[in-house]
Amino acid sequence: MIRTLISLTLLFVLIQVGGLQAAGLGDMKLQSKIHSMKKAGVGPVIFPHTLHEKKLKCQDCHPRIFKKKRGANDISMKKNMEGKYCGSCHNSIKAFPLYHCTKCHTNVRAPE
Ligand code: HEC
Ligand code: HEC
Ligand code: HEC
Repeated sequence: MIRTLISLTLLFVLIQVGGLQAAGLGDMKLQSKIHSMKKAGVGPVIFPHTLHEKKLKCQDCHPRIFKKKRGANDISMKKNMEGKYCGSCHNSIKAFPLYHCTKCHTNVRAPE
């Protein structure tokens, strides 16, 4: 009994440390900067967290690129273009580039 408990605890710790747990956060809406987005004619960002979980490891993003807390990262296009946050991969090399606005932003207004 005790042995089972110990091995179960160990397994749990290993899973936590290894980051093997799935977050399954689905699609996350990022819109803390909605005011500037409206001015620029783009809508909220839909970040497909689950899709990224499937393509990458948690440690590829947490904690090096993103703090693991909703709204805790001050993401902007300037920082993205400097190769931070989304821009550390969305740079034409690891993933599609930043000028594909409509892949990340909803409701992109056609240029006049
Ligand atoms: C491509 C990068 C990326 C990968 C890979 C990734 N995440 Fe995230 N994660 C994010 C971003 C971006 C956020 C939102 C941060 C924000 O809102 O500022 C986030 C948020 C979270 C949150 C906070 C949720 C909340 O409601 O506060 C948790 C927990 C989390 N991730 C866990 C994981 C786990 C576990 C894995 C691996 C299975 C993982 N993430 C893989 C980018 C990633
Ligand atoms: C660690 C690398 C990494 C980071 C950081 C990252 N992505 Fe991705 N992302 C990928 C890869 C790899 C793919 C799949 C290949 C592709 O679509 O180019 C992808 C795909 C996507 C897709 C799917 C597009 C489609 O065709 O359906 C969206 C949307 C997206 N990312 C948005 C974001 C946003 C928003 C951020 C920042 C909050 C972000 N990504 C940060 C690596 C990353
Ligand atoms: C890889 C995903 C991605 C792509 C592609 C992308 N953005 Fe963003 N953008 C973001 C994220 C993430 C934020 C911050 C969202 C938040 O937290 O409010 C953001 C924020 C913004 C903001 C408000 C903050 C700021 O920096 O002023 C504007 C405006 C904006 N984007 C315009 C654009 C335009 C225009 C394009 C195309 C040229 C574009 N974005 C392409 C992910 C992306």
